[in-house]
Amino acid sequence: MKIVFYGSGNMAHAIFSGIIDSNVIDPNDIYITNRSNEAVLKGYADELGVNYSYDDAALLADADFVFLGTKPYDFESLADRIRPYITDRNKFISIMAGISIQYIRKELGHDNPIARIMPNTNAQVGHSVTGLSFSKNYPETDRQKVVDIVNAFGSEMEVQEDALHQVTAITGSGPAFLYHVFEKYVDAGVRLGLDKEEVEESIRNLIIGTGKMIERSDLSMEQLRQNVTSKGGTTQAGLDALSKHDIEGIFEDCFNAAVKRSKELSNKQ
Ligand SMILES: NC(=O)c1ccc[n+]([C@@H]2O[C@H](COP(=O)([O-])OP(=O)(O)OC[C@H]3O[C@@H](n4cnc5c(N)ncnc54)[C@H](OP(=O)(O)O)[C@@H]3O)[C@@H](O)[C@H]2O)c1
Repeated sequence: MKIVFYGSGNMAHAIFSGIIDSNVIDPNDIYITNRSNEAVLKGYADELGVNYSYDDAALLADADFVFLGTKPYDFESLADRIRPYITDRNKFISIMAGISIQYIRKELGHDNPIARIMPNTNAQVGHSVTGLSFSKNYPETDRQKVVDIVNAFGSEMEVQEDALHQVTAITGSGPAFLYHVFEKYVDAGVRLGLDKEEVEESIRNLIIGTGKMIERSDLSMEQLRQNVTSKGGTTQAGLDALSKHDIEGIFEDCFNAAVKRSKELSNKQ
């Protein structure tokens, strides 16, 4: 199975290194390319054992899966570059935010199957939560291969294409929202009179430990919370204070704003 990456930037690198780390694909079957920065390609080839090339005819002649991994605003130039060399064998996987399957098809000028994925930056540590959507003509067996590829750098959630806006809001932008919450957690800790650096270090470890508890447990978040809350204790007192605020409403506002922006960006096509 030959996989070609058009665009070898931050996200593409997270994806192909994740695929290699999890032994899903042999590095020899991965080909990477970019606009012009050959030194980057050479570096990844030396480090990971992948191939690199600027020969589009050779790259696409026998490629099974072709990642479209440029910034959205570079897609037109990418489409111009590869259009003459696309073959029936090529199944596309786009990681570009906000660019619809219909628009990709129009720009490529071919009816090849197209999948869209919406990963997040946690792909760098093999923990992306990735939204996934397929064009109607994506063959069933190839869908499973795409799912296997996506699972190599985290987990996947298949949705209708329209719902990728919601996935973008909840998990695509999710790491930044959670970082912001943790920042505020640190700031509030410092206000109790503790040393900022020590609070930050402790809260990093708190987050890592809590994440590992969630990872290792089959219990719901609610149950995990209840398990550490004794009636009349300190945790209960803090939670009572928290529940006076509309936390759900705050996140609803945050997600609605991100969904709105995602729709605005894709309407610009
Ligand atoms: N970063 C994230 O967290 C994230 C999350 C979800 C989705 N995404 C999506 O991932 C995509 C890539 O983002 P990124 O952060 O990885 O961008 P990036 O680091 O800027 O990388 C962009 C890559 O595209 C290449 N490129 C540009 N024009 C090209 C062309 N005509 N032909 C071939 N390659 C071309 C660049 O090559 P040169 O270096 O040679 O210019 C570079 O390798 C975006 O569409 C974004 O929406 C990113």
